Amino acid sequence: MSALLLDIRPGDEVIVPAFTFVSTVNAFVLRGAQPIFADVRPDTLNVDEQLLPDLISERTRAIIPVHYAGVACEMDAICGVAARVGASVVEDNAHGLFGRYRGRLLGTLGGMATQSFHETKNLTCGEGGALIINDPTYIERAEILREKGTNRSRFYRGQVDKYTWVDVGSSFLPSDILAAYLYAQLEEWTTIQKKRRALWDNYLRELMPWAMQQGVQLPFVPDHCMQSYHMFYLVMPSLTDRQGLIESLRNRGILAVFHYLPLNVSEMGRKLGGVEGQCPVTESVANRLLRLPFYNDLTEGEQSEVIDAVTSFTCGPA
Ligand SMILES: Cc1ncc(COP(=O)(O)O)c(C=O)c1O
Repeated sequence: MSALLLDIRPGDEVIVPAFTFVSTVNAFVLRGAQPIFADVRPDTLNVDEQLLPDLISERTRAIIPVHYAGVACEMDAICGVAARVGASVVEDNAHGLFGRYRGRLLGTLGGMATQSFHETKNLTCGEGGALIINDPTYIERAEILREKGTNRSRFYRGQVDKYTWVDVGSSFLPSDILAAYLYAQLEEWTTIQKKRRALWDNYLRELMPWAMQQGVQLPFVPDHCMQSYHMFYLVMPSLTDRQGLIESLRNRGILAVFHYLPLNVSEMGRKLGGVEGQCPVTESVANRLLRLPFYNDLTEGEQSEVIDAVTSFTCGPA
């Protein structure tokens, strides 16, 4: 919907981090846009804002920052670069609901922001999402697009006596049943976030000495960011160590998984001009990152087992 609202057309360029899920970029490629893959910062794994001035051009229509693991991107710098060429900023806030940047909620900083309620997220309805519109100029058309191109929302409000087809659109609305399932979690969001915060803090406290000894990188949250407690990841010293730890956890019945494969070297990314070596931080981190079990119902006992299994692992020689 955000790509439709921005009226993205063939030839337009959209800057996306190479370290993200395909949904971030698919929306724009479906409208014919050329994605420009940006590398990420080694500390937060968010798009490296310092690279943007070299990637932006008069063809850039949008920058899509992804708040990785719910830690904010450097939004002042990103919005500043976008404004210089009149490009829009659409936050991919799939991970970041309830996180903040300099006190402001993630999802409120770009012209638009997208949420995901996929099963891996803090709040979920299985498959689902939301579009947050901060720039009011998009609201009227958004109501039409999400209702299959009709002015049904105006009909519901009594502003027209029948509704009809007025624009392109699709069925972007979740079902009432899914919305109800999600709404119950929204009512309990403080409890959910408190629980996740306690689990996250516990991982950090318990794994820090091991990580320092083994040369393992833990998540970094800058002082001006409040994270959303979406994910706990480790960046291992090497691919061999990452695979070794995944295997060793699997042997103890614990599922730890890697994350995004760099978009620039994916099959589709290459067709769109991506090349190896284009995003060195992404390409290196993608080989070394793993996510530990982290979900709302994870018990303290289960988490202790995970911590025990992780700290029993020794990385190979550098
Ligand atoms: C950065 C990012 N964007 C989007 C999504 C999900 O998008 P969708 O809910 O459209 O599948 C995910 C993961 O599920 C994600 O990690």
